[in-house]
Amino acid sequence: MLELINETANYLKSVVKSAPKTAIILGSGLGELVNHIEDKQEIPYEQIPNFPVSTVEGHSGKLIFGKLGGKEILAMQGRFHYYEGYDMKKVTFPVRVMKAIGINNLFVSNAAGGMNPDFVVGDIMLINDHINLFPEHPLRGKNYKELGVRFLDMHDTYSKKFLKMAEEIAAANNIKVQKGVYIGSQGPTFETPAEYKYFHIIGGDAVGMSTVPEVIVAKHGDMEVFAVSIITDMWYDGKPVEVSHEEVLEAANSAQPKMTLIMKELLKQI
Ligand code: HPA
Repeated sequence: MLELINETANYLKSVVKSAPKTAIILGSGLGELVNHIEDKQEIPYEQIPNFPVSTVEGHSGKLIFGKLGGKEILAMQGRFHYYEGYDMKKVTFPVRVMKAIGINNLFVSNAAGGMNPDFVVGDIMLINDHINLFPEHPLRGKNYKELGVRFLDMHDTYSKKFLKMAEEIAAANNIKVQKGVYIGSQGPTFETPAEYKYFHIIGGDAVGMSTVPEVIVAKHGDMEVFAVSIITDMWYDGKPVEVSHEEVLEAANSAQPKMTLIMKELLKQI
């Protein structure tokens, strides 16, 4: 595993002109941010040794190096989901590579279903904690101390500093933001009404099929994490609302300028 990470990192270092400290993983239908990146250098996943190739509709797979908010960044357009059939080491491989090329801040976005009755479709939820319900853990198996500790403390996984900055940016720009707990569930089915209810009862504000594995591995690599969910559909107690992939993409699409603004301003300040 260490060899694979190093091989991929060395390839990127040999072809990339910049040395970003921040990476942004873009979720379903949340690729609009890339239009704001300047001095772009794009590398399709097919060209990157050891990289899996993304399969799901709404995701085109490439790494984009460039500048956003005046800072060098790496954007990952198209992530690897567990439901596509990748094991957790593959799902989180890009985060290992990010760390190996010197990245220490990770921004993550996703589309998620809302369960908190105060939320509405189109809301942005700043993730302040998560519940991991994936059936496989990304740190399962041999632990390489070069990558992180065996038993990882998960307090303060979502940077309080970034959360505070993001809330201030949102307030200054009249953007309503919610805060809450993201439940990571394997998918690919959306939840049954009983599952939404259960996820709400156990403490979830939103549910989605990504983010948690990448965040765990980022934390393992001692990265500072900022993560947001775009609420693309809602479940209310007793009022389950049907959801389709198209609706999720549409809601994500209309909310993404707000997310882009928050991330861009955050970059300016770090
Ligand atoms: N559940 C799981 N994943 C999702 C949802 C949902 O309701 N909406 C968008 N991604």
